[in-house]
Amino acid sequence: MNRIIRASAPAKVNLVFEVGQLAADGYHPVNSLFLALELREELTLVKGEAGTGISIYVHGAELPEAHINAVPTDQSNLVHKTAVLFAQKLGKQIPDLQIDIRKRIPVAGGMAGGSADAAAMLVAMNEFMHLEHGTPNLTIEELAAIGAELGSDVPFCLYGGMAIGTGRGEVITALSNLAFETNWLLCASSKGLSTPTVYAAFDEIGSHTVFTDLTDASAIASAHELGQRMSNDLEQAAFRLMPTLSELVDQLEQLGAIRAMVSGSGPTIAALFDSEAKAVEVSNLLKSQGLVALTAKGQALGARLDG
Ligand code: C5P
Repeated sequence: MNRIIRASAPAKVNLVFEVGQLAADGYHPVNSLFLALELREELTLVKGEAGTGISIYVHGAELPEAHINAVPTDQSNLVHKTAVLFAQKLGKQIPDLQIDIRKRIPVAGGMAGGSADAAAMLVAMNEFMHLEHGTPNLTIEELAAIGAELGSDVPFCLYGGMAIGTGRGEVITALSNLAFETNWLLCASSKGLSTPTVYAAFDEIGSHTVFTDLTDASAIASAHELGQRMSNDLEQAAFRLMPTLSELVDQLEQLGAIRAMVSGSGPTIAALFDSEAKAVEVSNLLKSQGLVALTAKGQALGARLDG
């Protein structure tokens, strides 16, 4: 019988997201404080019949159908690209694979859903190639180097926990865990925002960000202190592209969020609450208004095999 390899990887929120001026390489330098959330993409990988190539099946009952339908299942899917790049790096043929992706992270939502899929696939491929072809297991640093070629958030999804991301966001400095659990409400939009479009709007607005020292973030002692520290330089750009987001942020804060903010490039709003009960209560209220709301705890482990 074919071996089944299962792997998962977490969503991220950028607690702090400082963005510099567009650089010559087409990317913006960033200074980001990442937190991984216990909202995991689950990936299952099975060896396919010889000559069948890579087939991908995407599903996820908690997300709107439009989110699932927006994920490509051909070679443009990041998981497909991950399989190809990983095999190339090892100098091996691209294997025949059947891949099942169970999505929980809003699609094109600024929460690294695609990057989490890629991170889970890197961990799964590492195991698959080792078992099938006897290749040595790569270290997390080696996986992160491959991940950085696939997307700026992939390395963080491999590491998880809390970390500083610099460069394009792909240079990860792991930090100690926060001393307390964080409770989040995530309000997804029915439509996604493309990351390059948000960065382009950011360029139009113009900014003068000074990067701050984030190395002391582990010393933040409470959710209220964390709320005061949260900031996102891409928020105004996301508001410009989707003006209703700003009203949603205000509404969430009026409903008791310590802080509500656009997550990364948006449009998902991440709202920090001081208890799980309160986050769930407000989430139910938003759902009754027809919005897509989820709750999740921080922080979470990075990509891992799930046995
Ligand atoms: O690396 P990732 O796939 O997330 O990047 C998608 C696009 O977002 C890039 O092609 C670039 O236009 C933009 N980007 C950026 N600066 C970053 C990360 C992404 O301008 N630090």
